[in-house]
Amino acid sequence: MKLQAADVKDIKLAAEGQNLIDWAAREMPVLNLIRERFAKEKPLAGQKLAACLHVTSETANLMLALKAGGADIALCASNPLSTNDAVAAALVSTHAIKTYAIRGEDNDTYYQHIEAALDHRPAMTMDDGADLVSVLHKSRQEQIAEIVGGTEETTTGVVRLRAMADRGVLRYPIVAVNEADTKHMFDNRYGTGQSTIDGIIRATNVLIAGKKFVIAGYGWVGRGLASRAKGHGADVIITEVDSVKALEAVMDGFRVMQMADAAKQGDIFVTVTGDVNVLDRPHFGAMKDGAILANSGHFNSEINLKALDDLATGVRQVRPGVQEYKLADGRRLHVLGEGRLINLAAAEGHPAAVMDMSFANQALCAEYLAKNAGKLERRVYDVPDDIDAEVARLKLRSMSIAIDTLTEEQKKYLSSWEEGT
Ligand SMILES: NC(=O)c1ccc[n+]([C@@H]2O[C@H](COP(=O)([O-])OP(=O)(O)OC[C@H]3O[C@@H](n4cnc5c(N)ncnc54)[C@H](O)[C@@H]3O)[C@@H](O)[C@H]2O)c1
Repeated sequence: MKLQAADVKDIKLAAEGQNLIDWAAREMPVLNLIRERFAKEKPLAGQKLAACLHVTSETANLMLALKAGGADIALCASNPLSTNDAVAAALVSTHAIKTYAIRGEDNDTYYQHIEAALDHRPAMTMDDGADLVSVLHKSRQEQIAEIVGGTEETTTGVVRLRAMADRGVLRYPIVAVNEADTKHMFDNRYGTGQSTIDGIIRATNVLIAGKKFVIAGYGWVGRGLASRAKGHGADVIITEVDSVKALEAVMDGFRVMQMADAAKQGDIFVTVTGDVNVLDRPHFGAMKDGAILANSGHFNSEINLKALDDLATGVRQVRPGVQEYKLADGRRLHVLGEGRLINLAAAEGHPAAVMDMSFANQALCAEYLAKNAGKLERRVYDVPDDIDAEVARLKLRSMSIAIDTLTEEQKKYLSSWEEGT
């Protein structure tokens, strides 16, 4: 693809997009503070950066902070269904940020947009699902020498990158933003928990209360989702493959069973595992007429849509974002958002207050990579503890919440082993 300044749906949507960006900024005090500091200190001066993130109003605020810090950015979508076209237009027309993202773009366009972002010749990559890293390693290896490092936003990307590092094929350092406590404990748990329910309600308008709500996976996202579904009055059922997580779900008060059993009972199914074919042919065979199936894990691989398509005698769209699969015995199964991240496909992704912390980590990690250019190894790094602590400190400050500090006596006590009873 020829490098063009941008590829967005309609540049005339810019004013609407700017309103959305300003609205999100009100809930992003930590990122705003970082943006102010970056504007003065310019820690990213001259850095070319390619970002592959959900193109939302919160991401726009991250882009503005990075730009204030001096970065020269190209942005593409990390999911074909998550782009806000108005925000993309504002980024291009109001802020002159090269943006390649159109909501609903097909697979070819999606990858052309990734190529366009990489044509920018970045020294830094910012991924949500490791697509930039993956394309660079597969087909643009000659560019890798130009790259000082990258960041990764989500669990699934970190898993892929760790696998690359373990096999010795990762060719530049990555900071796993997802691993920051101020990211996964808040974004995955509270952000995805709330926005997944929001996506299901917006797509279907079903009442959650009284429904049997089956959640596959009791990790950070599953825990957040389970507690919110319970808060809505659902009867929550968890399926897991990890015995410790399954036990935790039991002790948190949820029913835990195998998917083969849950499939017969559930009214709503949500997969949040990062795994493949978690809802599969035998499960579809057992589900009740009218069951709703959604995914909030990173890829649209968790519901085996190919198998469901094979089983179906007909498929039709019954509401925006709701596909009805009619089976030979007359049962109808409803798949939301084509099995893609439902919180982005049918709602607006995470609330800005949560993305504030995730993106504060992203901005500070970009600064960290710029400062440590050439000094890091080709592996996946955790976010430095001082960045994590700084993000939490700034967030508390923005909420006007003060916490105690250790006294000298307490520090001594906690670091000694001699003190006994
Ligand atoms: N929708 C969003 O906006 C959003 C936000 C954050 C993370 N994510 C994605 O959500 C997924 C989960 O993230 P997380 O942080 O909770 O990860 P996690 O690793 O904390 O949890 C995943 C859980 O799924 C379980 N699991 C794996 N295979 C399973 C199977 N076949 N059946 C049942 N359970 C299974 C694992 O044992 C684990 O407990 C990832 O793909 C992540 O990228 C999405």
